[in-house]
Amino acid sequence: MCGIIGYIGNEEATELLLNGLEKLEYRGYDSAGLAVFDGRNLKVAKSKGRLKVLREVLKNNGGLKGKAGIGHTRWATHGKPSDENSHPHVSTLRKFAVVHNGIIENYLSIKNFLISKGKKFSSETDTEVIAQLLEYYDNGNTLDTVVKVLNDIKGSYAIGIIYEDNPEEIIAAKKDNPLIIGIGENENFITSDVTAIVSKTKNIVRLKDSEIAVIKSDDVIIYDMNKNFVKKEIKVIDWNIDSAEKCGYDHFMLKEIMEQPKAVKDTICSKIKENEIFFDKFLFSKEYLEKINKIFIIACGSAYHVGYVGKYLFEKLFKKPVEVDIASEFRYRDPIVDKNSLVILISQSGETADTLAALRKSKQLGARTLSIVNVIGSSIATESDDVFHTRAGPEIAVATTKAYSAQLCAIYLLAIYFSRKLNTISLKKYNYFIKELIYLPEKISKVFNITEQIRNFSKNFYQAKNVFFIGRNLDYVVSLEGSLKLKEISYIHAEAYAAGELKHGTISLIENNTLIVATLTQKSLVGKTVSNIKEVKARGAIVLLVVTKEVLLKDEHNLKNICDFVFILPDICDEMSPSVSVVPLQLLSYYIALMRGCDIDKPRNLAKSVTVE
Ligand code: AGP
Repeated sequence: MCGIIGYIGNEEATELLLNGLEKLEYRGYDSAGLAVFDGRNLKVAKSKGRLKVLREVLKNNGGLKGKAGIGHTRWATHGKPSDENSHPHVSTLRKFAVVHNGIIENYLSIKNFLISKGKKFSSETDTEVIAQLLEYYDNGNTLDTVVKVLNDIKGSYAIGIIYEDNPEEIIAAKKDNPLIIGIGENENFITSDVTAIVSKTKNIVRLKDSEIAVIKSDDVIIYDMNKNFVKKEIKVIDWNIDSAEKCGYDHFMLKEIMEQPKAVKDTICSKIKENEIFFDKFLFSKEYLEKINKIFIIACGSAYHVGYVGKYLFEKLFKKPVEVDIASEFRYRDPIVDKNSLVILISQSGETADTLAALRKSKQLGARTLSIVNVIGSSIATESDDVFHTRAGPEIAVATTKAYSAQLCAIYLLAIYFSRKLNTISLKKYNYFIKELIYLPEKISKVFNITEQIRNFSKNFYQAKNVFFIGRNLDYVVSLEGSLKLKEISYIHAEAYAAGELKHGTISLIENNTLIVATLTQKSLVGKTVSNIKEVKARGAIVLLVVTKEVLLKDEHNLKNICDFVFILPDICDEMSPSVSVVPLQLLSYYIALMRGCDIDKPRNLAKSVTVE
């Protein structure tokens, strides 16, 4: 997410703003900027890249002097990372400077209207329309002007505004994105994250949706959209700076596990309008889809596991053959790829060297390439023919969770959309899937109800030497992800096995008290998986069953007696079960690693993005 900071008081603003933005760097960003009122004019300095690049720009242009200013770190959503697309954005006459976190959904229609009124735009962003619309409505009364603009824009926002003709105040407003006011001694702040200001003041006021704050150095007045005063209570932060970055969680990984409902909702909602899936950034015509002879899905690590889900879903729904490949293997074998192949590349960072190499190889072989990435402007996004941007926001923990879940949604949306286009699923089935997608965030949230049960279970098994994850079909694929999560953050050896494959060798490793995590959501395969559970139980294994309520309800095998522990999941269609069955496996890995004292967010030997072979 973007980071917002604002200051008005008796000290020089620039250094305070930069220090505040540095506290927000952990959130991930691709550009940064400041706007400061220097006593006469609004001055802006902004650049693509890290804050140290911005500091260079300030050094080279003599710096920004002034006691009121706003600052921003940008995580690109509309428009690639560039100097022009960085915030703050200013209006044509440079009267207004704006920083923004969120998405203005109707920015294009507003932009076209303002261009017809003579406004000159200098960026590709949605944010710039706020600055230009403020200037368009400007009647000298800032509050009036802001209310008019907020009534026009649709979407989500946290906004900081400085108006050159009224520089003794900063205006702040929000909807669906956090915005906090820091109350100091003859100085006040705004921020999107308390981390940025907690070293300056612990007295804060949290703005609510549709509230507007007029912040002076010695006063803060808050209004509603009808310009009535709103009385607010000052809260005192009891966090230290470290926990503030993680919003009170002990680790980014746990924070990001808990952010999965929002990451899933934001990703799904970006592609569903009025109960229809639509891709505004790329087109797959019926004619093109008919010509596809094979889909390749290529990725690494967890992204590869998402690709594996894609294999099962595209073949089941879209009825076309799918090959899923580890990128480092694909790039050195001789795959039969041609112009009728669709190659889908999945990468959270968009910078994984092996996946980028596979992309380039696929293009050389004539395939159309579609990438699913979480970082706008990343190499894989830039070089793909088409890009599906997931909306998980920056993911800090090395072990991916919310980005993985957002990638799953991208696969669901593509598989359902393609299948409907070629009529390989009925309209009734299509509408059923749309409903399942819309309820998916809520179902993931429901899994958090067993967090304490998982934590208690982990206390008994954190010293395990070997753990096996088994399942069939999509339950096997989720087992792959569960096994990787446990290995990479707790350093316990774990293996995922197709439940039906155990008896072909690996079952010889099962002995007394070996922990087996069996995932069971695929309704048509319950009996088969139960047989495999019985096989391992017969050899002394301890079985943790991860199962949906529905499977348990219809159980004819007395699963609760056969298995030693049971984690119960909310009911969900087979096709989207990975989105809920992965959550207990993530939490299990997290709590076992916690009990083992591991460096959960930065596991040994691992990097967040493997940009080398
Ligand atoms: C997953 O928890 C790991 N961090 C790793 O397997 C990761 O998924 C893999 O390196 C791929 O990264 P990417 O999605 O950025 O391409």
